[in-house]
Amino acid sequence: MNYILPGAPWLVAHRSMLCIDKPYKITLNNCDYVIWQNAKGEIYALENVCPHMQAPLSNGWICKEHNSITCPFHALEFDGKGRLIKDGEVKGEPIAKSLNLIIQDDLIWTYGNFEPRLPIPSLISEKTKGLSFLGIAGDTTIQAEFLQCIKVNYDFNHQNGVHHDTFRIKDNPVESFEKDGYYAKVVQTFLREDNTMQELFQNPSLMTFPKKIKNQLVYNFPSTTLFKAEVPLGEILQFFILYPETENQTRTFVLLYANWRNPIINVPGFGDLIKRSLLQSTAKIVEQDSKAVESLYPQQKPKIRLPKEEIMSYVEGLYHEW
Ligand code: FES
Ligand SMILES: [Fe+2]
Repeated sequence: MNYILPGAPWLVAHRSMLCIDKPYKITLNNCDYVIWQNAKGEIYALENVCPHMQAPLSNGWICKEHNSITCPFHALEFDGKGRLIKDGEVKGEPIAKSLNLIIQDDLIWTYGNFEPRLPIPSLISEKTKGLSFLGIAGDTTIQAEFLQCIKVNYDFNHQNGVHHDTFRIKDNPVESFEKDGYYAKVVQTFLREDNTMQELFQNPSLMTFPKKIKNQLVYNFPSTTLFKAEVPLGEILQFFILYPETENQTRTFVLLYANWRNPIINVPGFGDLIKRSLLQSTAKIVEQDSKAVESLYPQQKPKIRLPKEEIMSYVEGLYHEW
């Protein structure tokens, strides 16, 4: 089995993605897991395979009283450590394998039970103190390998192509690119053309995007890319999250936050409209990126280079030298 970046910290979910007492299935590096959260906010994770006859535990149900998951096949019950529960009592040692999680605020991280090779990044906690959490957008499996997906996040030259449609980005000059190990930062400007009335009607948040948007990209290899844009309403922060499901499938979702500075956001109904519309715009961005990466032909050595493309060799280097 080919594990992608063993020992990397992966952000596999935000708490809001888990309902209370409902199994949530994830796949990380070719292994399926089931995660659940109880009403107290405690979170558990097991390998998704029942140790009796290998049924998927995620198709089972949660028992509130015992904090346990019941297998959908013969109704055996396991606690969050993988121990059998019988008549409400724990019986013996764990027989289902658990997945170690690290819960940081509302973020659910894991090393997939590998020895950690990098600390859990503090970028999201640091940058979002006191900000409004708007929600999750673009929770999608991309049919492409992890390296191709992460390269799109680092490729700061793609917005006038991939995101030209809807966002009307006509140029995206880069002012600076700094890197320090697994951390990198880019300062960039988007220059936009006018949207059509129909586009504005379909997506009112486009009205809040000026023709020139100053933005920053902050990278914590390999899981997190922050895109932070200055708009007249304040700052919009999108954390693009990636983790490898299999060699050929990559999971993505975006955490959206705002630092509102303009009191117009408090006008009844307006804030909700903008929030919904920003989530919709973010989902559109993910859809455009996913389609772009899924449509690529097998990689060859480029016969032409764009200016300032060194960020691409930087991220490929981090990946291959892991
Ligand atoms: S397969 Fe799970 S209880 Fe039998
Ligand atoms: Fe993109």
